[in-house]
Amino acid sequence: MRYGYFDDENREYVIDHVNTPVPWTNYIGVNDMCAVLSQSADGYVFYKSPQYHRITRFRPNAPISRPGHYVYLRDDDTGEYWSISWQPVGKDLTKAKYECRHGLSYSKYSCEYNGISACQTIFIPLNEPVELWDVVLKNNSSRPRCLSIYSYIEFSFHQIDMDNQNFQMSLYASGSSYADGIIEYDLYYEESGYQWFTSSFEPDGFDCLRDRFLGAYRDERNPIAVERGECTGSFEKTGNHCAALQKKLVLQPGQDIRIAFLLGEGKRETAAPMREKYSDPANVDRAFSDLAAFWDEKLSKLQVNTPNQGMNTSLNIWNLYQAEVNIMFSRFASFIEVGGRTGLGFRDTSQDAMTIASSNPEKCRQRIIELCRGLTQQGYGLHLFQPEWFDPEFQGKQQSFKSPTVIPTPSMEEKVHGIKDACSDDALWLIAAISEYIKETGEVSLLDEMVTYADGGEGTVYQHMMRILDFSAEQVGATGICKGLRADWNDCLNLGGGESAMVSFLHYWALQHFLALSRFIGKTEEVEKYEKMAAKVKKACNDNLWDGEWYIRGITGSGRKIGTHDDKEGKVHIESNAWAVFSGVADLDRAVKAMDSVDKYLYTPYGLMLNAPSYTKSDDEIGFVTRVYPGVKENGSIFSHPNPWAWCAEAALGRGDRAMKFYNALLPYNQNDKIEVRQSEPYSYCQFVMGKDHTAFGRARHPFMTGSGGWAYFAATRYLLGVRPDFDHLIVDPCIPKDWGSFDVTRVWRGAVYRIHVENPCGVSKGVKTMEMDGKTLSGWIPVQKAGTQHSVHVVMG
Ligand code: GLC
Repeated sequence: MRYGYFDDENREYVIDHVNTPVPWTNYIGVNDMCAVLSQSADGYVFYKSPQYHRITRFRPNAPISRPGHYVYLRDDDTGEYWSISWQPVGKDLTKAKYECRHGLSYSKYSCEYNGISACQTIFIPLNEPVELWDVVLKNNSSRPRCLSIYSYIEFSFHQIDMDNQNFQMSLYASGSSYADGIIEYDLYYEESGYQWFTSSFEPDGFDCLRDRFLGAYRDERNPIAVERGECTGSFEKTGNHCAALQKKLVLQPGQDIRIAFLLGEGKRETAAPMREKYSDPANVDRAFSDLAAFWDEKLSKLQVNTPNQGMNTSLNIWNLYQAEVNIMFSRFASFIEVGGRTGLGFRDTSQDAMTIASSNPEKCRQRIIELCRGLTQQGYGLHLFQPEWFDPEFQGKQQSFKSPTVIPTPSMEEKVHGIKDACSDDALWLIAAISEYIKETGEVSLLDEMVTYADGGEGTVYQHMMRILDFSAEQVGATGICKGLRADWNDCLNLGGGESAMVSFLHYWALQHFLALSRFIGKTEEVEKYEKMAAKVKKACNDNLWDGEWYIRGITGSGRKIGTHDDKEGKVHIESNAWAVFSGVADLDRAVKAMDSVDKYLYTPYGLMLNAPSYTKSDDEIGFVTRVYPGVKENGSIFSHPNPWAWCAEAALGRGDRAMKFYNALLPYNQNDKIEVRQSEPYSYCQFVMGKDHTAFGRARHPFMTGSGGWAYFAATRYLLGVRPDFDHLIVDPCIPKDWGSFDVTRVWRGAVYRIHVENPCGVSKGVKTMEMDGKTLSGWIPVQKAGTQHSVHVVMG
């Protein structure tokens, strides 16, 4: 069963059955202000931080997602009312026609009911902290219509803790006022605790007090003010606040009207000029087209045309969008992560940054510097930190408000955690992010930039990289394999002094990145030192981790191997096997066997499971994973993030059909018609899909905020389609299904455009026979071309 379809031309996903099994969300805003909104306009908006500067309220984990950013319409002749988004009024869908179009950083809600068509487009202009609602109403009936329109949002107490607990202060420190068509909301104890709400019209009524607008024993579904047709003109110091503006309209048959609502950050004074600007629809249109141009620019960096339509739609639009949303807002704003955590997760941010180097090099660089500052001198990264802690420009500035009644602020020493809280993989990912950034931009000088360490002192970016590699070399267990420490990539595998196969493979991969970079810049001493380190790592892996048909996952502190042929549970794991192959540690024979075992034990039609069979008995030597329900999250679900690692591994083996089988299984697009199983958005990878050992096998959970967005993009473009930059040339090394006759990739790299046409006349999966650029034969790769130039590249596989 499907609830919508992909409209590639408009770059929208159209939800024509708005009663989706779970909320289907979208991300609005590309700079400081961001809203997470569902197909029913439920959701919230924040400014810079979902934890410290929430603007609108959201009641997490409730049976229905509320509140949201709503517009109510009322037929003043009959008293009947409805909302432009299906919720909150929730009209009978057999009588009212509803649609939601989720686009790139905007959502468009429309409804046709009672002879009135209405549309509400919500977006945030590129560089202004203001959420615009562009509303159009049309009278399609043959009689004049008397209507009232009402806006509704509920303000939050800004700090997520203040908004969810201990209201004895916040409830009495928040106030609202109304003047000249503008509602101002403030948190009295915060210096910059102000927002405003206004509209392009002179309101006929307003309410700033939530409970006056909704009425006692009511909610957003049936506000008393809308039912009666009159707002009460309420505002007060203290209480819970909303922004309801009412306008009475008469629409003649066929007549339409366009109005704007605006929700902005700042004091009342900042509202008036914005209101004036956006009362002119031409300015609304301009802001909307600037936003479209922003995405045009990003998407144009890489466009593909392959025989796989799902891949085209995903890589050209949704997959990059998801990856960018992750890097823009870190990982902590969704309907699941509701803002209680914030900052940068070291491993997540490193991987996210790596995967968007082509579309967002500035953000990638910014994140690299922030992460380097979050690295300790010993070489491990702070698992979760606020980049502001170490930002010289931010020093001394108060980030979060100090409540007289809440927890004392931790000192810097407390924030910089010790090795007992370090994860063994965290910092290794940063090496790859730095290397990919330099490959993308050519900015080798980044390596010489001086950056502080989290616990004092400073060093160049290059020195930071060496600290990371040295840390992993030092932190090894009895067999020379990296210790698991608090966790490795798998948060729930808690091996402590036990050993993690995955991390040693990752160490080897990071070393390969570092060595290639060091050779490129001529650092002979370092090349010698780290080549030795790499050889040692490889030997330790091959001596200790092979089980006969696959690689084990690790070794517990007491020396028990995890993931062997003798194991009844947790027998085969994806992370160690995919990384053994992709990192280059495994020789061909073992690599083939390892990936065949992945296919045999872990493949499902919805993607590869993390491990199989799932654990059913708790075992604290292995970790928390054994206390997670079978088939769920880290215990035997189809955890999306590692799936692309297996595509990369298959690509390394040249098995394009297998790689595409894995790719297609996980691809959300391919589940568009199976929503009764999947439930979640088909335009976003989800963190996980329930595995075979769960009764809800195939059900997807946690959209958007997952590393699988970035990794899927990275793996598919660079290793399946095979177009990837090196330090001074562009590689074209595809690994495709044998039945693909040809495909095209347009790639912008260092300012030049490469239109790459790949033909596959002999039906192979891997191997490039000839390559030409602008009619001239190339010897295996594409040299850097001048910025501003355009080139045609013709590749023949065989
Ligand atoms: C979550 C975490 C990520 C971790 C993964 C597996 O996605 O954000 O850091 O690697 O789970 O445990």
